[in-house]
Amino acid sequence: MCDVAVHYGRGGLGEAILEALRAAGKDPDALTREDLAPVDQFHTGGRDATLELARRAGIVQDATVLDVGGGLGGAARLLAAELGCRVTVLDLTEEYCRVGADLTRRTGLEARVGFRHGDALAMPFAAGAFDVVWTQHSSMNVADKAALYGECRRVLRPGGTLAMHEITGGTGTPVHFPVPWARDPAISHLVPVAALRALLGDLGFRERVWEDQSAQALAWFRQRLAAGPAGPLGLHLLLGRDFATMLGTLARNLDEGRVRVVMGVCERA
Ligand SMILES: C[S@@+](CC[C@H](N)C(=O)[O-])C[C@H]1O[C@@H](n2cnc3c(N)ncnc32)[C@H](O)[C@@H]1O
Repeated sequence: MCDVAVHYGRGGLGEAILEALRAAGKDPDALTREDLAPVDQFHTGGRDATLELARRAGIVQDATVLDVGGGLGGAARLLAAELGCRVTVLDLTEEYCRVGADLTRRTGLEARVGFRHGDALAMPFAAGAFDVVWTQHSSMNVADKAALYGECRRVLRPGGTLAMHEITGGTGTPVHFPVPWARDPAISHLVPVAALRALLGDLGFRERVWEDQSAQALAWFRQRLAAGPAGPLGLHLLLGRDFATMLGTLARNLDEGRVRVVMGVCERA
């Protein structure tokens, strides 16, 4: 298993989530998407950010969406249920794909949401297969951004939409660790915002929306940290008990301008 999949995959995740759901008073055999929100939205801003990106991207009913690095599929289920899209989740972490598929079945969305285990650098899809490519906090572990966004472009149909909600580099000063995507610099690969935008332009993407959301993200992290430990169900199930430390370090990085949070929507020209 590669280092990135080792970082995210913990083993026994499916059972841990079902146990935590029971402990939180939920019935794993009658799950709603809301029940899963504390554990299946692995990005800044939670469900609100997913809905905001969907609105900005103008995603329409029956659109075919590829969620690159879609994890347990929280965003995919939200898009499928709220907007009527058909979503494929591609993720490098096999355990996330397996557990995500089970959670999808338990929420009755398996006809609209599917999972593929694979690498964003070699996507197992035909050229032009999707109307929308979606990435939410999934580029931070990828060193070769040109290959990543080149693949995004290849699988998008002409005129299709790249919808991004990502963490980028900031001032260029080193990032403090651990952060939720890496315990040390070996698997953390952030590029400055200007370099990312230039790369997207070079690859033939036309920018429609670009917003720096670092200030909102910092406020969101501070609110979460002030609220104290999550209940039985939370992202600590994915990353371990030092998840709170990771959140605190990420907030510090944001506060010091070492990382930024951006939302962007581009069209494949
Ligand atoms: C922080 S999680 C975000 C998950 C999801 N997008 C969300 O917002 O809930 C990052 C995800 O990116 C995936 N990932 C990292 N590198 C990848 C790659 N090269 N190909 C596919 N997935 C990758 C990880 O396995 C992980 O599930």
